[in-house]
Amino acid sequence: MDKFIINGGKKLYGEISISGAKNAAVAIIPAVVLCDEPCVIENLPRIRDVAVILAILEHMGAKIDRKSDSVVEIDPRGIKSYKVTCEGLVSDMRASYYLLGALLGRFHNALVPYPGGCSFCERPIDLHLKAFETLGANCEILFDKIKLESEKLTGATINFEIVSVGATMNAMLAAVRTPGVTLIEGAAKEPHIVDLANFLNSMGANIKGAGTDVIKIKGVDSLHGCTYSIIPDQIEAGTYMAAVAATGGDVLIKNVTPEHLKSIISKLRDTGTTVQEQDESVRVIREGELKACQLKTMPHPGFPTDMQPQFVALLSTATGKSRVMECVWENRFSYIPQLRKMKADIIDNGNVAYIHGRDRLQGAKVRALDLRAGAAMVIAGLAATGITEIEDIKYIERGYEKIIEKLTAVGADIRRVTVKEDVDESNLN
Ligand code: EPZ
Repeated sequence: MDKFIINGGKKLYGEISISGAKNAAVAIIPAVVLCDEPCVIENLPRIRDVAVILAILEHMGAKIDRKSDSVVEIDPRGIKSYKVTCEGLVSDMRASYYLLGALLGRFHNALVPYPGGCSFCERPIDLHLKAFETLGANCEILFDKIKLESEKLTGATINFEIVSVGATMNAMLAAVRTPGVTLIEGAAKEPHIVDLANFLNSMGANIKGAGTDVIKIKGVDSLHGCTYSIIPDQIEAGTYMAAVAATGGDVLIKNVTPEHLKSIISKLRDTGTTVQEQDESVRVIREGELKACQLKTMPHPGFPTDMQPQFVALLSTATGKSRVMECVWENRFSYIPQLRKMKADIIDNGNVAYIHGRDRLQGAKVRALDLRAGAAMVIAGLAATGITEIEDIKYIERGYEKIIEKLTAVGADIRRVTVKEDVDESNLN
């Protein structure tokens, strides 16, 4: 079990380059199952979740050829069965549920072990199954697997009463080769939805309206190979932007799409942080004191839930009282006791957290409870006085490529240690 050790209190200066978007990559890779030829995917983040989904495809018979750190060629022609048998890998990540839509779209059947992943709260998949059923599949949840069967799928209108990223993507995957027209109403609008649609269209799909509430898909018979570059990760970018705001400093965040960062930029400005938008980068400067603010998570284009823990960490050192309301997940505040170990003054009640900012957090021994909660601990540790030791960093590493290298390059004092290494306990609280 490895750890991060942070000696906090250093301002950050320099440049950070953002990797490809995790939540786009983990849908685009399974989408290759629908294709009849090899595809080259560029700007892939080198993170654990991507390694796992590639390993699953390889286990299913695809040929994976790593061209470089961020480019991979996937040849799906060796995938002959709709049954996925590598339970260990599938249950290691949430996004393995995209195999359901992809296999159903390709083979009209799917048998996939139940997905795992970050479990900060209950993560149902009823909307995914409803979409498959609307297209004509029978869905059955077995003891540890999900089974989809169909004689024939037909385009239909799928109406989601809750906006769901995963269900929207899975409906797109299932519909893309399904005869007829499929309408997805109440669709999610996140940048990774548009990215998946662009990828599928690059392979010859006919998808319109991605990024709006209604997506229209005309089924096609086959999909051809393509070369496609994944969009930059807006949550990785937002995390480093919040880190600079928390520590103070001046950092140019490169390889981003500023349009995808609008809600994050707006909230950072509310805290008194300067954000200058450029063509494919944003410059974040924080010199004066941080101000408290109010925020509410919402599906895109609202403030992303995947930035909520990082902002709670940031606001823990802002002057005044902040209020953060979580409106996407039922309970995403389970990490707050970890921040309290660092002397953060936070009261959470249901889906609202009230944060009474204090001058400085204090380094402590904390755990990364999930990916974004872990990112919040990193931000808190960077801004705190003294040493912070973060355990369970495997969660952080599922979503942040080269986090140590990127932060060290801008002046952070952070390192990764194996458990046996001695830590100066006198500095820990
Ligand atoms: C995706 O999860 C992301 N994961 C999550 O990011 C992110 O938090 C979430 O979207 C919201 O933006 C991936 O893309 C792999 P949802 P997803 O379906 O698709 C309810 C991260 O840290 N719902 O949009 O699983 C659900 O309970 C991860 O990178 C149902 O009721 O989320 C929630 O309240 C964590 N039934 C809401 O919809 C369903 O069948 C939104 O969830 C599905 C969802």
